[in-house]
Amino acid sequence: MTLLIGLLGCGTVGSGVVELVERRADKIAQMTGLRPSIAKILVRNKEKARPSSIDPAKLTTDPKDILDDPKISLVIETIGGIEPAREFILAALKAGKHVVTANKDLIALHGPEILETAERNQVDILYEAAVGGAIPLVRPLKESLASSDITDLKGIINGTTNYILSKMTDAGLSFDEALSEAQRLGYAESDPSSDVDGLDAARKLAILSSIAFASIVELSDVRVQGIRNVTAADVRFADQLGYVIKLLAVGKDRDGRLSLEVRPSLVPKSHPLAHVSESYNALYVRGDAAGDLMFFGQGAGSMPTASAVVGDVIEALRNIQLGVSGHSQNLIGTQKTAEASKDLTPYYMRLSAEDQPGVFAEIAKVFGETEVSMSNVLQTPTRLGHADIVVVTHNASAQHMDITVKRLQELRHVSVIHTVMPVES
Ligand SMILES: NC(=O)c1ccc[n+]([C@@H]2O[C@H](COP(=O)([O-])OP(=O)(O)OC[C@H]3O[C@@H](n4cnc5c(N)ncnc54)[C@H](OP(=O)(O)O)[C@@H]3O)[C@@H](O)[C@H]2O)c1
Repeated sequence: MTLLIGLLGCGTVGSGVVELVERRADKIAQMTGLRPSIAKILVRNKEKARPSSIDPAKLTTDPKDILDDPKISLVIETIGGIEPAREFILAALKAGKHVVTANKDLIALHGPEILETAERNQVDILYEAAVGGAIPLVRPLKESLASSDITDLKGIINGTTNYILSKMTDAGLSFDEALSEAQRLGYAESDPSSDVDGLDAARKLAILSSIAFASIVELSDVRVQGIRNVTAADVRFADQLGYVIKLLAVGKDRDGRLSLEVRPSLVPKSHPLAHVSESYNALYVRGDAAGDLMFFGQGAGSMPTASAVVGDVIEALRNIQLGVSGHSQNLIGTQKTAEASKDLTPYYMRLSAEDQPGVFAEIAKVFGETEVSMSNVLQTPTRLGHADIVVVTHNASAQHMDITVKRLQELRHVSVIHTVMPVES
């Protein structure tokens, strides 16, 4: 039996989905008993050049051709953004159609509304492709690891920033040079803010945390710091100290209190996350029974993302056949309190100060008085009479570090504190 699909959007991900559904249709029919067929494809511009796998006769610019067609049982959304994607998905769910989406913005901002609408209408809403591209994360957290209490998520979940930081580390490029190269190669958009300011990673962390920690997670619960302040000097100092700089998304559940942060961090060169380079993604998960796991793979791109989308389509078809549609999203629990992490961690700090006798002693005195002890110090002269001073601390609380920074800023001989980053152990 054939199951008709309506595809909303046919860009990078959508065109990959069309190709993969056609290539795998027979196999999927064998696996599920239903043969998927993409009947109609919604686009903005029908005249645009598209891959040869796209049948122009299936293109439409009228969403009603899909949303109001009772023969279409499943809708795949690959338009992106909030509106009109939200409106289309809600309409599809209310019309009793199952929905598969790759839209992290929408799930991060309107997840509860969309999941509740699917549940009310007893249809599936699946969104594996919204986080981590080809890497299965949503389903393992929802299903395979449901027997564990997940306490920690730590990962590199934005390929653009990882590419930029990799180029700064491996090729010695500045932030601006690495960003230009990422834009030239299509890894970064012309407006890169959502990636470099950490918002894309924050949205993905919100989605993953809501599943892993069984809590409603608001995007505003995630503290976000991007990579614009990471300089070539930080990358060099980190290297000398035995670290690489990565934009880490970190989620913790400590007895029902969540701390969620996206921030550039120093990762020891021996840590598995230090070896995740270029546009690859990885997520470290710690569960009380499962122990430590790491998921690694391609976090974006046409075929890797299509592979996750089509995986969800297969799940939806199986659910239809088993008569259990609409039951897979009932996992989100109540809202847990989100707060700054109370865990102690070492910190890296780089500051510029006048290079004269007594200045370092003043700086060291502030660290002593704020009870943050130093474990490593590097000093390099920069311009005439000034030096870059790098301090790596022993374990300290975020609160003590904030006080230390404030006190250092008050010192007459300290001109600027460039960077403060946690150091992963
Ligand atoms: N690209 C990736 O590697 C990747 C990875 C993971 C997740 N995602 C997610 O996948 C989704 C799609 O991303 P993408 O990179 O494939 O985007 P894209 O290349 O920009 O494609 C968007 C598609 O949606 C269509 N579209 C846009 N606005 C529309 C409207 N108002 N009405 C009808 N059609 C409209 C466009 O039509 P035209 O073709 O006529 O312009 C285009 O076909 C996003 O949610 C993104 O976050 C992408």
